[in-house]
Amino acid sequence: MKVLVTGGCGFIGSHLVRRLISQRVNVVNLDKLTYAGNPANVADVARSPRYRFVKGDICDERAVSRAAKNVDGIINLAAETHVDRSILSPGAFVRTDMLGTYVLLEEARRRKVKFFLQVSTDEVYGSVDRGAAREDSPVRPTNPYSASKLGADRLAYSYFATYGLPVVVTRGSNTYGPNQYPEKLIPLTIIRAMLGQPIPVYGDGKNVRDWLHAEDHARAIWTAARKGRPGETYNISGRCPMENIRLVRTILEELDAPASLIQFVRDREGHDRRYAIDDEKIRDELGWRQTEPHAANGVTKTVQWYVARRDWWEPLVRKNEAFNKYFEAQYGSRWKRGTP
Ligand SMILES: NC(=O)c1ccc[n+]([C@@H]2O[C@H](COP(=O)([O-])OP(=O)(O)OC[C@H]3O[C@@H](n4cnc5c(N)ncnc54)[C@H](O)[C@@H]3O)[C@@H](O)[C@H]2O)c1
Repeated sequence: MKVLVTGGCGFIGSHLVRRLISQRVNVVNLDKLTYAGNPANVADVARSPRYRFVKGDICDERAVSRAAKNVDGIINLAAETHVDRSILSPGAFVRTDMLGTYVLLEEARRRKVKFFLQVSTDEVYGSVDRGAAREDSPVRPTNPYSASKLGADRLAYSYFATYGLPVVVTRGSNTYGPNQYPEKLIPLTIIRAMLGQPIPVYGDGKNVRDWLHAEDHARAIWTAARKGRPGETYNISGRCPMENIRLVRTILEELDAPASLIQFVRDREGHDRRYAIDDEKIRDELGWRQTEPHAANGVTKTVQWYVARRDWWEPLVRKNEAFNKYFEAQYGSRWKRGTP
């Protein structure tokens, strides 16, 4: 079995690549190495005879065609993934997340692959004020990231409906764990707490996210790729809903850092209040189960990883001009006076 994984140097992709190699699957990892792609994330498998890296853009037909030679299936994780950046500049999101998915689907169609797994997100449902969204619930993406992801998600489905391509879509919830680029809430909080720097929390901090461990997410993606019914969508939930502020406080306690580091900042534009998905389908139909059902436990282990892996994150944030520029553009004008 040979699988083309796109975005395998990113956060979730690196966990998936490692899982596939450990299961004796041959992997071609096509990754453009944007600011979020980091070869160090897969350094431990880079020498495996089952692993091949191709540096390239999923929007580039030639690179995609080269990487997809003789593959049995394609798993598309490559994407621009940060909501805040999508609000600052949506163009790259429309390009990679939508156009890139189109290029991959065309290649998959030409090659008649055995499966095409499109990694989508629970954010396509938008804010879910009550209950939990099922796969057939209405979709209401509210920012350029989630809208671009939905475009790709439905475009992939259309290749099943129109051409019979064996497409399966997964919609996973907010993911955490080792290797996550330090712009996202959990690593940002851990790292700034370790450095004794103020930690920005949007609005009143009461937005709810459902936390899923990256290894569980990777395993669910692989389960859906192998066993999912073509044309179907599968939600993947961590079943660990938590208000952002509670999460941040948990991390600070874990690090013995003072709560005074928390700074409430002007809210994200169009900030979805609550994400919640029902994932009975993947559990009932495909038998997937998460191995990390307690976010508090998973967060403790994640904190320990970042504490131990200063060598991993320090070059990404300290004296890193691009990161500092982004941080200033995103938060510079948001700091409010005091905390509510
Ligand atoms: N992180 C989450 O909480 C979460 C939750 C649900 C779904 N997802 C989805 O899972 C996938 C992976 O997310 P992540 O958090 O690991 O992302 P990430 O930002 O950590 O990594 C993305 C990877 O894609 C690569 N990439 C970006 N543009 C590319 C292009 N044009 N061509 C080739 N490679 C490119 C980057 O170099 C990077 O290695 C995405 O599709 C995302 O939408 C993420």
